[in-house]
Parts: sequence; structure tokens; C-alpha cells
Amino acid sequence: MLRESELPQQAVCMMMSSQSIQLSKREHICTVVANDAVNDAYNHLILDAPPLALQAAVPGQFFHLLCPQVDALTPFLRRPMSIYRIDREQNRLHFLYKLVGAGTRAMAHLRPGDSFNVFGPLGRGFWLEPSWQNLLVVARGVGLATLAPLAQLARQEGRRLFAICSARSPEYLLSVDYFAEMGARVLPVTDSEGTSGVTAVTHLITHLIETEHIDAFFTCGSNRLLKLLQQLGRQHNIPGQIALEQQMACGLGMCYCCVRTFVQDGQRIDLRVCKEGPVFDLQEALTW
Ligand SMILES: Cc1cc2nc3c(=O)[nH]c(=O)nc-3n(C[C@H](O)[C@H](O)[C@H](O)COP(=O)(O)OP(=O)(O)OC[C@H]3O[C@@H](n4cnc5c(N)ncnc54)[C@H](O)[C@@H]3O)c2cc1C
Ligand code: FES
Repeated sequence: MLRESELPQQAVCMMMSSQSIQLSKREHICTVVANDAVNDAYNHLILDAPPLALQAAVPGQFFHLLCPQVDALTPFLRRPMSIYRIDREQNRLHFLYKLVGAGTRAMAHLRPGDSFNVFGPLGRGFWLEPSWQNLLVVARGVGLATLAPLAQLARQEGRRLFAICSARSPEYLLSVDYFAEMGARVLPVTDSEGTSGVTAVTHLITHLIETEHIDAFFTCGSNRLLKLLQQLGRQHNIPGQIALEQQMACGLGMCYCCVRTFVQDGQRIDLRVCKEGPVFDLQEALTW
């Protein structure tokens, strides 16, 4: 992967256009309402957003964020970030982000009242088949940010949701209160308590399948969880979806930098995570 400073001219022109692009109906200038630390690794950003930004947004979609430039932090490309929460009544758009590198560290400098440029909503989000009444979310770390708005959708549509939330230790368990607030049954598991290993999580999921008649699985990011859910999905004939992460440049389907390989009907095909995803059929994703 190229460093940002080594990007070819063609790509640079395209990125520049994302910095200077004329305001369209998909680029939105929001105002920061809050940007607070959740713990030493994650921040919760709340934006006042134009209704147009929220109107068609669905869980699993993402926005491409134009991070600020702060001192030595000079992110050039936009950074993709899943929708954490959509509040159409108050025109609020939420993101839960991990402090990783230049872009997210620069975002941590945003203060209430600052303007923030977001582009989206982009990609294909989660979808619920009418027959899926009992949904199971299994996620870890920042994956919980991507899966949290499913709780909102499940509540709106009258579906039952179970959420196995995994983390290193209890202080890194994200979204647990939010899942509970939305009526989900939350099952936290952690490394420090010895409850997040594959064997323990397999027992937990199998128990839920038997007692709660789980109809669909939802997960995000983790290869270990993908493998486990694919195996249990095949064994119990339970479908599912996965939200994938991939480094992105344009976020719009033009540059092909986010392509990953999938299997559809026995054939290997390459799909763009930003356009055909980021949510894909669980069994079609290849483990890595
Ligand atoms: C669909 C999607 C949803 C996501 N949702 C969330 C979320 O809800 N919360 C969360 O915390 N994280 C989320 N992520 C991950 C998040 O986008 C990254 O953590 C973030 O981009 C890191 O940026 P950074 O600058 O802080 O870190 P860095 O690791 O420094 O940034 C990435 C580095 O890679 C370089 N780079 C990036 N893209 C390219 C490229 N195309 N070509 C060349 N170099 C490149 C940059 O220059 C930079 O140096 C999501 C990712 C995707 C794809
Ligand atoms: S990021 Fe450009 S095609 Fe996906």
C-alpha cells in the first residue's frame, strides 16, 4: 500500500477533488455538538447534520470524513467511518471512532461549534429479511460501533436482538448501554474474564440458537468471528451479514483501491467494499 505522500498524480487529483469538490447534495457541512473520550482509545463524536444527510441513511452505511489538519497531523484522504447512531428528530449524526493515526487523532481536536465536512451516506448497509425475527450480533472492539445502529433498526421493525459484545476487558466494552437502551439482550464477554475465547463464544451462540431460535447473524471486521459464524451458519443453516473494513481512497467506487475477493455461486469475484459493500453476505466473504 502506498503512503499518502506517494500517491500517483491521478489519484492525487481525485483526492484533491474530494477536498475542494463543490457542495453537492451528498457533501454535508455539519457542526460539532460533542466529541468526548469514551475511554483511552475511543471517542464519541456527535454532529448537528442537515436533514438530507440523515434522510436516507441506514445502519451499516458509512460517511467519508474530511478530517481537520492540526499541526503535524495532516491527513489528506478522507477517512471512512460507519454511522454509529442516526437521530432524525434532533438532526444528529453519531460516530464512535478509535484513535489510530493522523486522521482520527486530528478528529480528536474537534470542539463543539467547529464545522466538519462529511460525505455520504455511502455504500450498502444491513438489510433485514421479513422472516428474520431473532437477530444475533457478535462483534468486538470497534466493530460494535458499526453494528450498534442495527439495534435501532431492530427496534423500529419489532425484531428481537441479542448482542454478544466482546472486548479485552470490561472498560473497552463499547455500545453495551446503547444496545440495552434499544431493547437488545446484551451478553458481554471479555478476555480478562476468560469468557471471549472461541470455545466459550461457540457455546454461547449454540445455546442462543437452541433456546432463542436465531434467524440471522451479523458481525463486523474480525476474522476469528467471521470463521466461527460461517461455520455455525453452515451447520445450523442460518444466514448472515458481515460489514467489512478496507482502506479507501475515493469511497465512491471509482478508484478500485478497496477491492476484496468474494465467492458467489462457487466463483471468485472481486467487489469494491465502498460500493458493493461494506455489508456483504456472511458466507460470500473470504476469511484471511
Ligand atoms: C466502511 C468502514 C467503516 C469504518 N467504521 C469505523 C468506525 O465506525 N469506527 C472506527 O474507529 N473506525 C472505523 N473504520 C476504520 C477507520 O476508517 C480507520 O481507523 C481510519 O481510516 C484510520 O485513519 P487514521 O488516519 O486515523 O489512521 P492511519 O492508519 O494513519 O490512516 C490510515 C493510513 O493509511 C493511509 N491510507 C489510507 N487510505 C489509503 C489509501 N487508499 N492509499 C494509500 N494510503 C492510504 C493514510 O495515509 C494513513 O496513513 C471504518 C473503516 C471502513 C472502511
Ligand atoms: S475506495 Fe475507491 S473504489 Fe472503493
